This record gives sequence, C-alpha cells and structure tokens, in this order.
Amino acid sequence: MSQRILHVIGSPRGERSRSVKVAQRLIERLAAASPGTEVETLNVCHADLPALTGPVIEGRYALIEGREVADDVRAAWGRIGEAVAHFLSFDCIVFSVPMWNFGIPWQLKQYIDTITQPGMAFRVSESGVEGMGAGKRAILVASGALDIRPDSPTAELDFQVRFMRAWLGFIGITDVHVVHLRPTYGPPDAVEAAMAEAYSSAEALVDDLSRASRV
Ligand SMILES: Cc1cc2nc3c(=O)[nH]c(=O)nc-3n(C[C@H](O)[C@H](O)[C@H](O)COP(=O)(O)O)c2cc1C
Repeated sequence: MSQRILHVIGSPRGERSRSVKVAQRLIERLAAASPGTEVETLNVCHADLPALTGPVIEGRYALIEGREVADDVRAAWGRIGEAVAHFLSFDCIVFSVPMWNFGIPWQLKQYIDTITQPGMAFRVSESGVEGMGAGKRAILVASGALDIRPDSPTAELDFQVRFMRAWLGFIGITDVHVVHLRPTYGPPDAVEAAMAEAYSSAEALVDDLSRASRV
C-alpha cells in the first residue's frame, strides 16, 4: 500500500546532523519497501511558522465566539489551520529529534505548539480527549550525547522521547517507534559505534514494519 511520509527535521545542523543521516536511511528503506511512497521534508528550523503571540492566542477565542478579529490575526489562524492540515495529511511522520537540555530543540517545540490546536489536532468532549492523528504512525530518530534509554542510569533525565510520546499520544498517535542514536559525544569510535547501531536498528525496524504489513 502506498503511503505518504513526512520527515520533520528538528536539528538545525544541516548535513552534519546525525539524527537526519539515520532518518534519511530509514526513510529510503521505508520507501523501497513500499513502492509509490511519497516523501516530504519539513525542516522546522527554517519553516516560516506563524508565531503564537498574545493577540493571536486571544484571536482564537474571538474567532470561535464569532467576534471581530484583526486581519493579521485572522491570517495567522488561516496559516495555523493549513499547518495542522498539512501535518495530518501524512500516514507516517519521521522525526529527527536531538536532545537539547534534556528536552527537544525549541524550533521543534514551536512547531508542536503551533499545530497542537483544539478543534484541529484534538477535540475535547464529554468522553475525553480525541486526537485527530489516530491511525497514523510516528518514528523518532532520537539523538543525544547522554544515554537516557529506559534501562540506563540517566533514564530519568529523558524529557525528549518521553515528551514526544506523550504529545503524540495526546493527538492520537500511539503507533510510535523509537530509534535511539546515542551517545553522540565521546571518543570517535564510541560515536561511530552509536551511528552503526542506529543504522542497524533503523533497518531492523523497517524490516519488522514491512513484515507486519504483509501478515
Ligand atoms: C543546545 C544544545 C543542548 C544539548 N543538550 C543536550 C542534553 O541535554 N543531553 C544530551 O544528551 N545531549 C545534548 N546535546 C547534544 C545533542 O543532543 C547531540 O549533539 C545530538 O547528536 C545532536 O543531534 P543532531 O546531530 O541530529 O543535531 C545538546 C546540544 C545542543 C546544541
């Protein structure tokens, strides 16, 4: 079955980004396993996202209540709606996500804050929160100098993968897979070993997903 993949790049390091290198390999293999796959890249470090300023936030309530809003605020909400619809138009979202100060880079957080809007990315009803991303798949290529994998002694410092999982779950995406790429700081052979391990986990993940889709 053909699929649409969005690669969300959360590292500003361009070609030097290690998480991007691994994500690109993973996406190439996903595409090879599923002919007709369409891939789009969104580098949130260069994206011209509408800022959630005070007037824009207040304007949201004014729009919901049918009150007058300034043209620029109306235009900002139009662009936010387009950004949400764009995100939700993909079947699978691959994130290149480095750890920054235990969490994620602010550029990626800005994107998440922009698109996580009530009535657009999730709905709240009497039965609880319904995420509009249900049925989609997310893959995180999560890089970092520290090893914060679940069984490591520094696991409690993980506000990167745990945050991404919590946010994805909130918008309904529960089919989440993680490729860890760490440690990316230290003796060159340790970093090269981390790269090799991440490439092979990415390849194994694609093989597993392809096998599961054939069953
Ligand atoms: C501003 C900044 C903050 C960082 N904070 C952390 C951190 O808290 N924990 C960690 O393990 N690595 C941290 N790092 C290191 C990066 O996570 C690491 O270099 C990672 O490989 C970057 O991924 P990339 O090559 O895809 O950009 C930080 C790097 C930067 C630039």
